[in-house]
Order: sequence, then C-alpha cells, then structure tokens
Amino acid sequence: MTFHSRAHPDYQTLVFLEVEQGIYQLSINRPNVLNALNLTCLEEINTCLDLIEQDSEIRILLITGMGEKSFVAGADITYMAQLDAHQAQAFSDYGNQTFSRLSQLKIPVIALVNGYALGGGCELALSCDFILAAETASFAQPEINLGILPGFGGSQKLARKIGLNQALELIMTGRSISSDEALHLGLINHQYPADELAQEGLELARRLIHKSPYALAAIKQLIHDGLNLPLNHALSLESQTFALTFAGQDRQVAMQAFLNKSQASFKPSR
Ligand code: COA
Repeated sequence: MTFHSRAHPDYQTLVFLEVEQGIYQLSINRPNVLNALNLTCLEEINTCLDLIEQDSEIRILLITGMGEKSFVAGADITYMAQLDAHQAQAFSDYGNQTFSRLSQLKIPVIALVNGYALGGGCELALSCDFILAAETASFAQPEINLGILPGFGGSQKLARKIGLNQALELIMTGRSISSDEALHLGLINHQYPADELAQEGLELARRLIHKSPYALAAIKQLIHDGLNLPLNHALSLESQTFALTFAGQDRQVAMQAFLNKSQASFKPSR
C-alpha cells in the first residue's frame, strides 16, 4: 500500500491509501474514541473528497475504520455536549453536506463495516453505494439515548433503505442490531467473517474497476435521482440517461469488445 501522492500526510483523523492501482481506501483514524467523528474529521473527509473529485485515476473508494472494534461509533459526544442549538444546526448541516458529497461521487464507494456503525457511523455507511460488514459488526441509530435524533441523514436515508416500519423502530428505540439482522433487513449487501472483510472489499472493487466509469456514474446518479421522482418522470429520466450512454465512448468500446470476443478496457473519465 502507498500513500496517495497528493494526500495530506498530516491528516490527524484519517488515513488515505492507494490499495492497488485505481483503488483507494479512506480509514477513519481515531481508534481511541472508536473512530467517533468530530469537526476535524468532517473537514478532513472534505479535503479528501476534493482530491478524489479532481483525480480521475481514483476509480473506486473503500471506507473503513481503524482498529478491529469500530467502523465509526457516531458523532463525537464530547464535542456535541458543548454545542448550543445554533452550533448543532451548523454541525448537522456540515455533516449532511459532507455525506451528500460522498454519495454524489461519480465513482463506486464501498463501506467496509468492521465493527460498531453507530449514529454517524451508520449514516456514513448509508452514504456509500455498497455496505459490506464483518459478522462482528453492529448497527444502530442510538441518538434517542442522548435525547437527540440522527443529524447526518439517518432519519431520511434509513427509511429509504429499509422502509418506514423498521426505520421508525430502530430510530425510536435506538436498538442495536447485529450484522445478521442488518443483512435480513436489507441494510447491508453482504456479511463476511471479520478476517475476510478487507479481501472481499478488494474483490468487489476489482470487479467494479473493469466496468465503464461513465456508465457507473450514470447508473448511480439515475437511481438516486429517480427515487425522488414520480415513476413516469423517473422512467423518462432513465430513457434520457440511456441515450446519453450511447453518446459516450465507453459503450462503443464495450459493444465492440463483445462483438470481437475481447475484453473491454476503459479510460478513466470524470
Ligand atoms: N463520542 C465520543 N467518544 C466516544 C464515542 C462517541 N460517539 N464512542 C465511544 N467513545 C469513547 C468512549 O468515551 C471511551 O473513551 P475513554 O476511553 O476516554 O473513556 C472510548 O471511546 C472507548 O469506548 P467505551 O465506551 O469504553 O467502549 P465499550 O466497548 O465499553 O463501548 C460503545 C462501546 C460503542 C457501546 C460505547 O462507547 C457507546 O455507547 N458509545 C456511544 C455511541 C453513540 O451513542 N453514538 C451516537 C452518537 S450521536
């Protein structure tokens, strides 16, 4: 593994590495507080997103937490304890903007949930395109136990992902669920033994890196945008986006490769 050439080596709360060509990993690195997210952490995630958005050589992003115990155990309660309502709104806005930027990246983003994904940790995972979890992982939106509610998107994204009934129950009780239950509810894509999670994440990344970057970005945006539209509008958006893929180069490369019985190879695009 190598540090990304343009990454800031002085990140206080993150590690950003190139795992192999085109595949990068961002690890939240505050293991002493189970990778809880403070303001510095959100700022550094934004700096990292700046790099990713500008560098078309970054094709796939993996996100995980340092250490074996925790992905992210939520927003930093020590930091939140001193906020007034006005500051809390700014913190929530900033967290929501950060996680929206992450969701809107044009490349596939894979969460590797290696332990606790609580509060902001569950919301971070919900902002990724795929959630792979260790069998030892657990998920919760426990904000109710602090007299607050999810502030980085959980109140909206969890219901969209697993449905109203389950989201209401999880957010109103703060109940922690196992990786098994998260799989059953459709919160995560796959579950693996803890010591196989990193390798499985890499395998998924290697499969995705051979797909058309243009089509991957278009699919991601279309599905997200379409979810917020009436079906007839969403279907017209699908037709428009389908047409756009025909205007791009990747589909010529891919269709020609099929006809030639060869392997398509795509150039990075952004
Ligand atoms: N914010 C700030 N610090 C946190 C934190 C958070 N969200 N989650 C854990 N920590 C800190 C603990 O205070 C502790 O610090 P200390 O060693 O200085 O006492 C350290 O991380 C280890 O946590 P600890 O509670 O000792 O570990 P545990 O294995 O006994 O329990 C949890 C793990 C995750 C169950 C427990 O830490 C917890 O409930 N954390 C809060 C989760 C939460 O409510 N998140 C949502 C916030 S909106």
